[in-house]
Amino acid sequence: MRTHVSAPYSQGKHGLACDGVALAAIAHDVGTPVFVYSAQAIRDAYTGIDRAFADYPHAIHYALKANSTLALLRLLRGLGSRADANSGGEIRVAFRAGFGPADIVFTGVGKTRDELEFAVAQDVGTINAESPGELDRIAAVAAAAGRTARVALRVNPDIDAKTHANISTGLRINKFGVALEDARAIYRDRRDVKGLRFTGVHVHIGSQITSAEPLQRAAHALAGIAIELRDDGVPLEHVDLGGGLGIPYEGQPMIAPSEYAAAVLPALRRCGLPVVLEPGRAIVGRSGALVSRVVDTKQNPDGRRFAVLDAGMTELMRPALYGSYHRIEPVEPRQAAVSQWDIVGPICESSDAFGRERDMPLLEVGDLVAVLDTGAYGAVMGSNYNRRLLSPEVLVDDGAWTVIRRRQTLDDVLALES
Ligand SMILES: Cc1ncc(COP(=O)(O)O)c(C=O)c1O
Repeated sequence: MRTHVSAPYSQGKHGLACDGVALAAIAHDVGTPVFVYSAQAIRDAYTGIDRAFADYPHAIHYALKANSTLALLRLLRGLGSRADANSGGEIRVAFRAGFGPADIVFTGVGKTRDELEFAVAQDVGTINAESPGELDRIAAVAAAAGRTARVALRVNPDIDAKTHANISTGLRINKFGVALEDARAIYRDRRDVKGLRFTGVHVHIGSQITSAEPLQRAAHALAGIAIELRDDGVPLEHVDLGGGLGIPYEGQPMIAPSEYAAAVLPALRRCGLPVVLEPGRAIVGRSGALVSRVVDTKQNPDGRRFAVLDAGMTELMRPALYGSYHRIEPVEPRQAAVSQWDIVGPICESSDAFGRERDMPLLEVGDLVAVLDTGAYGAVMGSNYNRRLLSPEVLVDDGAWTVIRRRQTLDDVLALES
């Protein structure tokens, strides 16, 4: 097994760089914390998946939830991507980035009536419904608007994605979708309902999946139900395999897109329907680095060393939320012996730590460090806790860099308050 994207970050003459652009120069101009993304890494990741499925009719609907900054969406749209939106807000952002209604699959476990009315009025490509009740609400909204909504039902195949429990979605104990064995009757009972047209069937078993086997099983389950529905005379137009492809946060072996395609295509060929893919993390994850400055260092009597950064769980929540691992690199390494450091944030929560007992050269106040692989589920999960301000985002492309989101100001935040 091998990874599919060359790492965009490497040490150069001016310290750690993103595609040759020194992170220290960006931090100097924009301040810290700052998210930096490599446009080339995003292109490579997108085209890697697209090429792996080239021999089979497919559409990549990039999952906006991973990172929906407009400039990144425009970049992906330019590559031919479509969009997977998980809320009314994400649908609107997709439109602002230039995606059309037909480009969108609307997913999400708790769609409100307002969101459904909006999606139906906009005639989005497919609404992925999560329950029989939601199908009925879509039908009512569509019928009231004199429209027909294209829908796919999300099935829950009870497959262990072998990932972190908090990002596993395809087990019977999870809140997502309907049990596989119930799906056929749900389609059958509603196939002639006014306002609904069943165009697909959907599955998404989890995120950060690092072996092909669960994805292969999900594809088999999906193809199986699609074939049953065809036998029942439901004229489906696609199957939607969801997202979930992992990235090598710890440098571990990872499924390459070609292995992913090889694992799922035999099942898809069996049903013969075009496939929708909804990758998020695998497209943007490795492109990003969170660059932050050390604001304090200290050592406990037992020898434990801490480096406190100006970034914390308000910028990157994943370590606090799931105990997830991110590599942390000094931006300008010193010639000093390596020792172990706890790299922590400034927030008053003990879970606010990016890494514990990490081997690092001496860190001093003012040093820059980069938390790597933070392109997905990083900036999008940022918060204003402690009245902290959302960080700026910078896109590096072809040796130049651009601020694609400015730093939030306190006035931006307080504008909502009376
Ligand atoms: C329905 C659905 N599709 C796609 C994704 C994207 O997943 P990933 O970023 O792991 O590819 C998610 C994320 O959880 C999801 O819930």
